Amino acid sequence: MGVQPGNEVIVPAWTFHATASPLFQLGAVPVLCETLPDGNIDPARVAELITPRTRALMVTHLWGKPADMADLTGLARDRGLDLLEDGSHAHGASHGGQKVGTFGLARAFSLNGPKPLSGGEGGFVLTDDADTYYRILTFAHYNKRARNEIPEPHPLARYAVTGAGLKLRIHPLAAALAHDQLARLDACLAGREEISAHLIRGLGRIPGLEVTPLPEGVKSSWYALPSPTGPTS
Ligand SMILES: Cc1ncc(COP(=O)(O)O)c(C=O)c1O
Repeated sequence: MGVQPGNEVIVPAWTFHATASPLFQLGAVPVLCETLPDGNIDPARVAELITPRTRALMVTHLWGKPADMADLTGLARDRGLDLLEDGSHAHGASHGGQKVGTFGLARAFSLNGPKPLSGGEGGFVLTDDADTYYRILTFAHYNKRARNEIPEPHPLARYAVTGAGLKLRIHPLAAALAHDQLARLDACLAGREEISAHLIRGLGRIPGLEVTPLPEGVKSSWYALPSPTGPTS
């Protein structure tokens, strides 16, 4: 999304490193923001970290529990920042009836290994912004979709054959595996919800263990059970 060398991007201090580490490829600066007890980025602390160099805000929905998207989208809009989601733990989760992966400018989802939706490896990006989509094609789908889909007058059309020097597209077999599972995702999440409710009831009887409650209107993908001291599964 046009991050330039020296730009700052606010990222959660607690996440898998891959939420932030691609910024080093761009010469951009990850600015680590404190998280709430559930592991999600703290909107109040984000506001304190915004500088004239801040370009974007990156949100991970840690362990599948959606971050507070009402506050975060409002903050990004008011401060002129692009909002990006890392939905790698949270396929199918929702906040206020809105699915994770539909907020902000663009969203990345891993399909690696044990993710709620898995292709074994690989991942995908969602965006409804044409310019961002053409950039993604340039990094991932040069010579194929880039040639077919980037319109001739667009400045990136001249790179449709060569791309940007990297080839980041998903292996088609992984895409096919994940696509096939997509139809079963909701049923799978309902199963996870049932198992999680059982675990939460049991864990609630053990002194010293606490599972962060889900606020009204928030649906998790239950990638793990967030507790104020770390994931319990
Ligand atoms: C929050 C988060 N973001 C990004 C990634 C990176 O995904 P991948 O392994 O598909 O590159 C992971 C992987 O575990 C993750 O947990």
